[in-house]
Amino acid sequence: MKYVIGIDLGTSAVKVLLMNIKGEVCNSISKSYPLIQEKSGYSEQDPEQWVDKTTDALSELVKQFDGDVKDIEGISFSGQMHGLVLLDENQMLLRHAILWNDTRTSKQCQEIYDVVGKERLLDITKNPALEGFTLPKLLWIKEHEQDIFSKASVFMLPKDYLRYRMTGQIHSEYSDAAGTLLLNVSEKVWSDEMCELFGIDKSICPPLVESHHYVGPITSELEEKTGLSRTTKVFAGGADNACGAIGSGILSEGKTLCSIGTSGVILSYEQDKGRDFQGKVHYFNHGEENAYYTMGVTLSAGYSLTWFKDVFAVNEDFDVLLDGVGNVSIGANGLIFTPYLVGERTPYADSVIRGSFIGMDASHTKKDFVRAVMEGITFSLYESIYIFRESGKTINTIVSIGGGAKNETWLQMQADIFNAKIVKLSSEQGPGMGASMLAAYGCGWFESLQECADVFIEPVMTYEPVQENVEKYKELFSIYKQVYSQTKELNEALKPFRK
Ligand code: XUL
Repeated sequence: MKYVIGIDLGTSAVKVLLMNIKGEVCNSISKSYPLIQEKSGYSEQDPEQWVDKTTDALSELVKQFDGDVKDIEGISFSGQMHGLVLLDENQMLLRHAILWNDTRTSKQCQEIYDVVGKERLLDITKNPALEGFTLPKLLWIKEHEQDIFSKASVFMLPKDYLRYRMTGQIHSEYSDAAGTLLLNVSEKVWSDEMCELFGIDKSICPPLVESHHYVGPITSELEEKTGLSRTTKVFAGGADNACGAIGSGILSEGKTLCSIGTSGVILSYEQDKGRDFQGKVHYFNHGEENAYYTMGVTLSAGYSLTWFKDVFAVNEDFDVLLDGVGNVSIGANGLIFTPYLVGERTPYADSVIRGSFIGMDASHTKKDFVRAVMEGITFSLYESIYIFRESGKTINTIVSIGGGAKNETWLQMQADIFNAKIVKLSSEQGPGMGASMLAAYGCGWFESLQECADVFIEPVMTYEPVQENVEKYKELFSIYKQVYSQTKELNEALKPFRK
């Protein structure tokens, strides 16, 4: 039997997934690492931890594998997007990585608009200037850590750094490069204009390849540490959302995905490189060659639930926490939650806004709060669907992956709030699955990613919207939508009191 490994370098953990050529999940191992949050709005990670934890997970996987390691033919990656990793001329790390959910760069985003202009920025990068993207982080370093900036010989995205440490080869690929604001998204080249305007030496941008590009073998050091073979081919991989799309079969026009991980996204396939959403949603290169996707992002999706658990139910595991939320009525007995724990992206690009519980009542129990958190996350994702539908897209079926696809109540809630049929797959590990599919395609097992999807992806359940619930949620959504504008000024006033 032949195998591939998909490595999903997430925000809370790295997951390694062993798949066989029949598309069966043979093993999956996860290792977590912490966020470093020195101040409100800051979010960093130590890239060494990514390397160490991935190495541990891979060696555990190999130990548990009872076949010949040479039968593991390929490895590829999915990675948290936008994070900035800087290396010096000896390819040594210059500092911790600044992550996608770090929002310290509002000033640099304004600078980007002032220098290049919103229209030209959209022409080149297809995206607005958002705090989470990579260029604002580079500009922040240039302003606040000049010494580090001057020593930088290359910048890398998180999974590209991991791949570099596993192979010794430095590359970027289009789906992740698209989230830097330095890529000309439709031309698929680093933008000379953006680099020149912002004083970025283009030589610090790594060479670009396709997601299924063969990069090389693993290093002998990694071979020794993990027991993997140097005959295993390593392929470039993609951004987690691009891989989530591949791993859930979002490979043709009209297909839409809801992914609830640390962040939550609604993502829709685009064949056309030229559609214009005026920067209201993201527009990135897909992991499939010459395809694109458009996407809205809720910064704290699964993270809102993890936060709630860590603060209010630290000793409960998620199953216990979520048990019984299906018995709480729609609207959580008059409680609404907005998931703006680290600010928001879609539809409000606002790094200052913070979350709220509205309507707390002495009768509320923990279950009401949990239901309100789940509903708030789902309402926030619905805002992206709303934008897509307003732009003329038909969205009547949505594949759901991630944490939100593990819970029956949440799946039905998605159907009712989105007013669309929700499809659950046999594995909810979209990004890891997409990474393994890139390896399988790269190895030449299949003629196309779609052919691979036909074997690897299996829909197992669908959830239809219940009209009565749809109506109730419409009413609640109109209340939910007001919370942002009603709490915006209050949060601005509270900002000086944050750590
Ligand atoms: C997308 C984004 C997040 C991260 C999460 O723009 O910032 O979804 O990719 O890993």
